Amino acid sequence: MLTAHILALSVLGSALALPKFGSRQDFSDEDLFNSCPGGPGSSKFEKADRCTLDGPVDIPDVRHFVALGQPQLNCGGGTDPITVTLGGEKTVSTTTTVDASVGFDIDGLTIGGGASTENSESSTMSKQVSFQIPPKRQAVFVAGQNNKAQNGRVQVNFGDRQFGHFIWFTSTNVTRLTPIDGDVEFDVHVSDCGTDATDLSSYNKQ
Ligand SMILES: *[C@@H]1O[C@H](CO)[C@@H](O)[C@H](O)[C@H]1NC(C)=O
Repeated sequence: MLTAHILALSVLGSALALPKFGSRQDFSDEDLFNSCPGGPGSSKFEKADRCTLDGPVDIPDVRHFVALGQPQLNCGGGTDPITVTLGGEKTVSTTTTVDASVGFDIDGLTIGGGASTENSESSTMSKQVSFQIPPKRQAVFVAGQNNKAQNGRVQVNFGDRQFGHFIWFTSTNVTRLTPIDGDVEFDVHVSDCGTDATDLSSYNKQ
């Protein structure tokens, strides 16, 4: 019975000019991403109608620190502490990225779905403090926005069949960080004069 079905299908397949079903060898994941709204486009695909995160998996929250306002320096050779105002304002938004190891980025692409439908698209961090900087030291105010983090592949929907399908999925997963409104930590980052005051690598450990 099963054999009969397979036979019937193979006869049909060769008799009719069925649409040619392409395979992944015909294009790269980068081609697929580039066809998303906001992307540069790809010679392999028409522009996609939409790109969405497919069945994203929650991964641990990610807190990301940025400098708020300009660093202040007590680097003029004086021996007294100075009192300064530190801080400022910054708005951070939902980001969708691919791992650096994939060799291309997806900046500017519009990829819908995921936690952004439940959480905020952006969060504004704003605060100022008075701070005393010791001699030979510099300081910058930092804010760490906590983000809901999700990982998943991207579903790409086309208006016409592309390589035989209306829908393709990327094989590269993306990570989406969505700001959790109000979940922000503040700190003053003090460092030695002559170093990069805005190097926050000690805060943003990978
Ligand atoms: C990629 O995303 C899918 C969901 O679309 C998930 O099931 C899978 O575990 C993810 N793979 C990795 C390596 O994170």
